[in-house]
Amino acid sequence: MSTDPASVVPGPVADVVAGQGPAGLFVSFEGGDGVGKSTQVALLGRHLAALGREVVVTREPGGTPLGVELRRAVLHGEDLDPRTEALLYAADRAHHVASLVRPALERGAVVLTDRYLDSSVAYQGTGRGLGADEVERLSLWAVQGLLPHLTVLLDLDPAVGLARLTGDPDRLESAGDEFHRRTREAFLARAAAAPQRWLVVDASQPAEDVAAQVRARLAPLLRAPVPGPSEPAPAPSAVPTGGVA
Ligand SMILES: Nc1ncnc2c1ncn2[C@@H]1O[C@H](COP(=O)(O)OP(=O)(O)OP(=O)(O)O)[C@@H](O)[C@H]1O
Ligand SMILES: [Mg+2]
Repeated sequence: MSTDPASVVPGPVADVVAGQGPAGLFVSFEGGDGVGKSTQVALLGRHLAALGREVVVTREPGGTPLGVELRRAVLHGEDLDPRTEALLYAADRAHHVASLVRPALERGAVVLTDRYLDSSVAYQGTGRGLGADEVERLSLWAVQGLLPHLTVLLDLDPAVGLARLTGDPDRLESAGDEFHRRTREAFLARAAAAPQRWLVVDASQPAEDVAAQVRARLAPLLRAPVPGPSEPAPAPSAVPTGGVA
């Protein structure tokens, strides 16, 4: 179920990054409900903006006008069978990447997304039982292989995360303890299989402590031109050093 970036055909972003000067940085935040994804995306966005970077903060589902409609359908609409649910997430992701994420990366922005394809692998692939590999292939097809440079997994006991939330639970938040236990384990297994892409943070810590760990991991990626999100990372000694763009 792991994703080897080297096995993914480089897409247009990788070509731009390899060929022409400054390129963007793509960071996703993952984890269960209420773990602090939106909090951390906002904190990191403010930090990067203060450094002078163009920052695009977005989310899945719902990062585009069409995505807002799909989000309502998938989280607050009628009951859906698992394949319909998976395809709606994939449709949202395809449009999100094509219309917002890739253009931002191509002009050199830092894109921070609150959830990305690893959520589909964990929730629809493992949680709903559709199969992690199949759901991963569906998502990679939808986004033409675009993977983040860094994925932050905010790891927390699902009961603690759900207890942080107020308001009526959505369809996924209502899916039950066993579902949330399986998705947590799926995230952790996925992170362990590709540690070069993932940072796992104990999300029971205070938000500022979590944010500091994210900033520390991101700092080297901000200092150096980075390979395209779909390309394999070079050996550390081959990474050129340079100033913050
Ligand atoms: N590290 C933390 N410790 C304690 N509370 C936190 C922490 N981070 C965020 N919170 C609080 O927990 C609640 C949920 O945080 P947040 O909305 O950032 O989580 P989320 O992962 O985006 O949730 P959702 O899955 O609903 O989108 C908020 O009230 C937030 O202030
Ligand atoms: Mg949120």
